[in-house]
Amino acid sequence: MTASDNSISAQLLHWYDAHARALPWRNPPGAPRPADPAWPYRVWLSEVMLQQTTVAAVKPYWTKFVETWPTVEALAAANEADVMSAWAGLGYYSRARNLVKCAREVAELGGFPDTEAELLKLPGLGAYTAAAIASIAFGQRAVVVDANVERVVSRLANITQPLPASRKAIRAAAEVITPEARAGDFAQAMMDLGSSICTSRDSKCLLCPLSNMCAARKKGDPASLPVKPPKKAKPQRKGRAFWIENSRREVWLETRKGTGMLGGMRCLPDDGWSAQGDGSGELIFAGEWAELGAVSHVFTHAALTLSVVRYQGDAQPAGEGEWWPIDAIEEAGLPTLFAKAARLALV
Ligand code: ADE
Repeated sequence: MTASDNSISAQLLHWYDAHARALPWRNPPGAPRPADPAWPYRVWLSEVMLQQTTVAAVKPYWTKFVETWPTVEALAAANEADVMSAWAGLGYYSRARNLVKCAREVAELGGFPDTEAELLKLPGLGAYTAAAIASIAFGQRAVVVDANVERVVSRLANITQPLPASRKAIRAAAEVITPEARAGDFAQAMMDLGSSICTSRDSKCLLCPLSNMCAARKKGDPASLPVKPPKKAKPQRKGRAFWIENSRREVWLETRKGTGMLGGMRCLPDDGWSAQGDGSGELIFAGEWAELGAVSHVFTHAALTLSVVRYQGDAQPAGEGEWWPIDAIEEAGLPTLFAKAARLALV
C-alpha cells in the first residue's frame, strides 16, 4: 500500500496480506491462482460447504471429500448415496444432492465455466456462490455478499434500514468498494474481517483496519448493525423414532425418499413427525417397545423433539429398508438428529 492509497480495498487487502486465515482450500493472499485444473473444483466445494456452516465444521468434511473425490470428474462418477453419507452431519442435505447434480453437469461441460453469469446457471449455485467462485477461483471482479459482508458493509456505510429491505443498499455499497484486481482476496478479507473483528456480537473497532473509514463508527453504533427483522418463533414438532434391533446385532434403517427434509439420507424409521404429531402416536408395529428418552434438533423451519423407542426381536418392518450392522453404525451416514437417537440406543 502506498501512503496515498487509502481506499477501503487497499487498506483491507493490506490487512489481509498479514492476517489472512490459512484455510486448506485457500490460496495465500496475493499468490497467483494455482495451475492445478482441480482448483475451481476445490473452491466450489468449499463455498457450497460453507453456506450456513462454520469454517471449523467444514474443514474435516472438505478434506475428506477432496481425498475421496479429488476432481469434479471423480465426484460426477460417484454414487449419490455415498456422497450423501459422506455429507452426514453437515446439514442442509439438499446441498449434497445438488452437489452431485452440479458435478455431473460440470463434468459434461468439460470443466467449470469461468464467468459469474454461466456459473449462476449451475444447480445449487446462487448469487453468492457464483460470485465467490468467479472471483476466488477465476480472478474475475465479482461482488460477493454473504452475511459477513452484509454486516461489514452495513457498518462501513452506516446503513440503518433493517434487513432484508436494506439488501439493495448493501449490495450497492459493496459494489462501490470491490476492486478490479484481487476481488477474490478482497471478498475473503471481508469474510475474515467479519468473522474475527467486525463480529455480530460486537465490533472490535480498535483492531479494525477500516475503523478510520467506518461511517457507523463515526456517526452511529456499529454493533447495532445490521438491524435484523424480529425472529419468528419456530414451530415445535414432536415425533417418534424407532430403533429396531434384531438378534444378529443389526438395526433397521431406511433411506428417506424425495428432496424434502433429509431426503436421500439413511435414517431410523419414524412416525412421520413432519405430520405434526405429538410424539405419542402409532408404533411402527405392535410389540414390546422400551422408551429410551428423547433427542432434539433445530432445523431451519422447525425445532423437533423425537422420542426414541427400541424393539428387540426379529420382526421386520414393512416397506423398504436394510439391516445395518450396529458395530458399523458410524459408516451408515446418519444425519445428526438420528446419530443422536442412535447414541441413546447404544449407551
Ligand atoms: N465463508 C464462506 N466462504 C469463505 C471463504 N472463502 N473464506 C472464509 N470464510 C468463508
